[in-house]
Amino acid sequence: MKVNGTHYRSLWWDADKGALQIIDQRWLPHEFRIQHVDTLQDFADAIVEMRVRGAPLIGATAAYGMALAARLDPSDAHLDEAFAFLDKTRPTAINLRWALTRCRTYLKTLAEADRAEAALKLAHEISDEDVEINRNIGLNGLEIIREIAARKKNGEPVRILTHCNAGWIATVDWGTATSPMYQAHDAGIPIHVWVDETRPRNQGALTSWELGSHGIPHTYITDNAGGHLMQHGQVDLVIVGTDRTTRRGDVCNKIGTYLKALAARANDVPFYVALPSPTIDWTVDNGVAEIPIEERLEREVTHVQGLTEAGEIAQVQVTPVGTPGGNPAFDVTPNHLVTGLITERGICQASADGLAELFPDLSSLKESA
Ligand code: MRU
Repeated sequence: MKVNGTHYRSLWWDADKGALQIIDQRWLPHEFRIQHVDTLQDFADAIVEMRVRGAPLIGATAAYGMALAARLDPSDAHLDEAFAFLDKTRPTAINLRWALTRCRTYLKTLAEADRAEAALKLAHEISDEDVEINRNIGLNGLEIIREIAARKKNGEPVRILTHCNAGWIATVDWGTATSPMYQAHDAGIPIHVWVDETRPRNQGALTSWELGSHGIPHTYITDNAGGHLMQHGQVDLVIVGTDRTTRRGDVCNKIGTYLKALAARANDVPFYVALPSPTIDWTVDNGVAEIPIEERLEREVTHVQGLTEAGEIAQVQVTPVGTPGGNPAFDVTPNHLVTGLITERGICQASADGLAELFPDLSSLKESA
């Protein structure tokens, strides 16, 4: 999508430098910094430190990491080593394991001499596919928004609540939850987005930055405001992203998503999840019992980052010194709270049958590694 009128993807290959370019998201929305990543340690750090973040983008980044590994040493042993090294960077988003597995499995079918070039080509393909998947999620989700808009009087906007940042910088382009919003806005359907702040890291500020750059009306709200807004009829639907969806349709997303799903159910507000197929973990059934939840640094909770009046990015402490902070980064929303899954192939029920019907070719694959 566009930043100050120029189109960007969230990562791209610089052939002259022979390196991956990323947007260092730690400084957004206040500063737009581009950085290149060209060692395996740097790839791992970029994912751990959330310079790149969001399930699909983590997957695409890891694919370029495998391309670097194949260039440095294309042997099976080195590919295995790079796989293990990158795989342990973040445990919840399954796109990481999905991309690493796809790269390693394919590369091992080739002669070592051919692997470096093929790996880079595959990383480009994975990135391009992500863009196309998300564009199609947008077109499918657009129909839900269009239906709600048709019931509105006097051109009132469709009011959508979203949590975290499942926007274009969490993917290669378009975003997942935001893609239907872009499509609706571009189709002339009036929308307004309630953007959850999403403590502790406030990814809602990233979503606000993205939506604002595209001219989409939105309001940044505290994480606790959603239930109140739903009770008062101010939310028409919720659309969120996912870091891992089980084969029966349980959805693991940024911490706080589950509470929004509960509030949505209590207030008859439709709760949709935008789901690219690489985010489905076909090996897992019960999300609450089986998905590993990332525990992140205490400091993310005890401190917040923002812009000072002097225009500097700074972190300040919000807790008394010595108060411990707990930081589970994701939670699981059970399938019965999900109205539907918006995928690149269409919308389905959050159930084993719903997913298997849309993805008969994938649902038989039980191994992710
Ligand atoms: O910890 P983050 O910022 O990587 O978490 C991101 C999310 O939870 C997103 O909602 C999810 O990855 C979907 S991104 C299209």
